[in-house]
Amino acid sequence: MRALGTAHRMTDPDHAVSDQRVQRQVRNATEPILQVYYRYIFGDWFLAEHIDPGDRVLDVGTGAGRSLLQTSDLTDDIYGVDLSPEAASVATALFGDRGGQFAVADGGRLPFRDGTFDVVQAAGFLPHFSDVSPYIEEFARVLRPGGRAVFNVKNEDTFVRHKLKPFHESRSLSRVVEAADAAGFEVVAVEPTFVMSRKQKMLVFSQRMPMALRWAGLVVSIFINAVARRIPRVRDGAALYWVLAEKRADPA
Ligand SMILES: C[S@@+](CC[C@H](N)C(=O)[O-])C[C@H]1O[C@@H](n2cnc3c(N)ncnc32)[C@H](O)[C@@H]1O
Repeated sequence: MRALGTAHRMTDPDHAVSDQRVQRQVRNATEPILQVYYRYIFGDWFLAEHIDPGDRVLDVGTGAGRSLLQTSDLTDDIYGVDLSPEAASVATALFGDRGGQFAVADGGRLPFRDGTFDVVQAAGFLPHFSDVSPYIEEFARVLRPGGRAVFNVKNEDTFVRHKLKPFHESRSLSRVVEAADAAGFEVVAVEPTFVMSRKQKMLVFSQRMPMALRWAGLVVSIFINAVARRIPRVRDGAALYWVLAEKRADPA
């Protein structure tokens, strides 16, 4: 890790992910069909839209580096932190000569100085926590004024479970917007994405299925996703949202 601040070692090994899970993350990072899944179903395209060439980017909860692989096509000034020592070492190996610096660290206590990054990205990270505030505060601290945080959150009041409770009225969004505002951010965009049902996912992710069938399942899901996003009431009920928040220049 390049010396951008004082490193804090992690003290909570209970959060470390198993080897098996890391292996799964490596597969998710590198299999072409899964790269397409993450880009078009999970919504990584939204993340890519908000990274400029040359940005210094920190990925929080980086796992094996899956979402950083996409970012590394846009900038080579990339850093990743994860609580799991296995994840950080697998990401280092996966990136090879593509660059990238990885460290074992808690997303709520980042080992970087204030204002170090242009972008903080966090894919599949905040949905782990009931209280997102400490993490969003850390994102704000390590970002420069005007820097961007791009992360996803779950809609807990989804269309299916709570009958047409739209995301803009949901507890999930108000909690995130309040936490972001208190940390000195302005939420400038939210973007729904329609993650697949468990059965669809099993089809696309299963290496035992014929590849042609897996691709067919993915293409159908991308089509359904594209249609769903154009129907306002359905769009509002998406289970997963990406959020773009900008750090205010004057966080008064
Ligand atoms: C669902 S995975 C997402 C991995 C990757 N961002 C991706 O999209 O594939 C969540 C990751 O967050 C990490 N994690 C959990 N709690 C953490 C914490 N407090 N600080 C840093 N990383 C954490 C886990 O070890 C895991 O690798």
